Amino acid sequence: MTNRQQLFFDHLAQTSDFPLALEIDRAEGVYLYGQNGEKYLDFISGIAVSNVGHRHPKVLQAIHNQLDKYLHLMVYGEYIETPQIQLAEALVKTIPQGLDNVYFTNSGTEAVEGAMKLAKRFTGRKEFVSCFNAYHGATQGALSLSGEEAFKRNFRPLLPGIKHITHGKIEDLEKIGCRTAAVVIEVIAGEAGVRVPDVAYHQALRQRCNDMGALLIYDEIQTGFGRTGSFWAFEQYGVLPDILLTAKGMGGGMPIGAFIAPKEIMSVFKNNPILGHITTFGGHPVSCAASLATLNVVQSVLAGGRQEAGGERQEAKGERQKPEGERQKVKGERQEAEGERRKVKGERQEAEAAPVGICNPDPNNGEFAIRTNPIQAKSDLIRSLLVHPKIKEIRGRGLMLAAEFESFEVLKPIIDRAIARGVITDWFLFCDNSMRIAPPLTITEAEIREACTVILEVID
Ligand SMILES: Cc1ncc(COP(=O)(O)O)c(C=O)c1O
Repeated sequence: MTNRQQLFFDHLAQTSDFPLALEIDRAEGVYLYGQNGEKYLDFISGIAVSNVGHRHPKVLQAIHNQLDKYLHLMVYGEYIETPQIQLAEALVKTIPQGLDNVYFTNSGTEAVEGAMKLAKRFTGRKEFVSCFNAYHGATQGALSLSGEEAFKRNFRPLLPGIKHITHGKIEDLEKIGCRTAAVVIEVIAGEAGVRVPDVAYHQALRQRCNDMGALLIYDEIQTGFGRTGSFWAFEQYGVLPDILLTAKGMGGGMPIGAFIAPKEIMSVFKNNPILGHITTFGGHPVSCAASLATLNVVQSVLAGGRQEAGGERQEAKGERQKPEGERQKVKGERQEAEGERRKVKGERQEAEAAPVGICNPDPNNGEFAIRTNPIQAKSDLIRSLLVHPKIKEIRGRGLMLAAEFESFEVLKPIIDRAIARGVITDWFLFCDNSMRIAPPLTITEAEIREACTVILEVID
């Protein structure tokens, strides 16, 4: 054992007896490099974080620029910090309408916690509905949402009043009732092994929430920032949430998260009590600067590299650059009627051209489809390469994929051997017979071929 390994096992808190314990010296693009010349292709992006690869030059530049200006100045929400307001504006522009207020956090879990408090305070209700086999974080509120008893049993008491439904099962939506503050749900169920529901499911979910007066909270912590082939996964369903959660890929490798909601919902944090939600480091200026650069890179990737960061990107999105007055209208629009939301589909059909990453339903069949883009092309390439009798199916959207094997016993040695051969994959928290495939969105065709060749060889 090297000295560094010894220190790792002696002093770094361990949460399992089987950490990967790879010693990484540096990282660049899709590769991690070990101390002694080892090279690993990161086919999971550090679990859906490094969407723009490791140390993307534009992210590094943004970090350097911000380092030269200031680090922490004040607890959240008091000073006007340019990186925060620029990122908030850019995030709001990625969302078709209504969600115009951003609260920055340090992590995904904190975004979940903040959103749960917000939903309770806004609706005056206490009950939450979430999915079996979902992971929303490890703190006590987020953990309460988990449908996996084994993870919760020894940490009770947790939050009461949580109901669980099966992701994708329309009949279960009946469990959402007039006491439900909010449904917290992923658009595509990640840790359940990448389960992709159909459009009808999310539209029925939206309708049920409307009917019951419950808020719909989309946890896009894993699916956001281009991971599924559109900037947000909800774009593929034509359904808008009331509160949107993001983190992971958002920071380009820096820690940051956010919950995003209409101002009329978010403003309840201003009174009763005042300072209804507080954070010291949430929205750290360096993380915000990195995140804005990441957002630009992701949009550029989605646009096929035609768009560049900054001015050009802004120009290309006249659609999304609604004048201030128009954005204000959103509040009124949201209040008008629940039925309004249902119009989203129709409105989109009328729109001439969707903004980058926003999908129009196909005018012929009214279906939502991902527009052809490089992320989709890479996804298709992986699917076409990973053909083997031992791979039962490949599920997913964009570069959030799961390759299913017969069992964990079959899969585990494949993952171990792939790592030994320099390709990092993984399984899922609640699905151990499926291989997680979530490379950086910036991965090249050659790198995909390299990874898939190794995976196929180790299966054999
Ligand atoms: C869907 C989802 N929600 C929430 C979280 C928690 O995020 P974090 O680990 O940043 O606290 C995760 C993390 O894996 C996640 O995948």
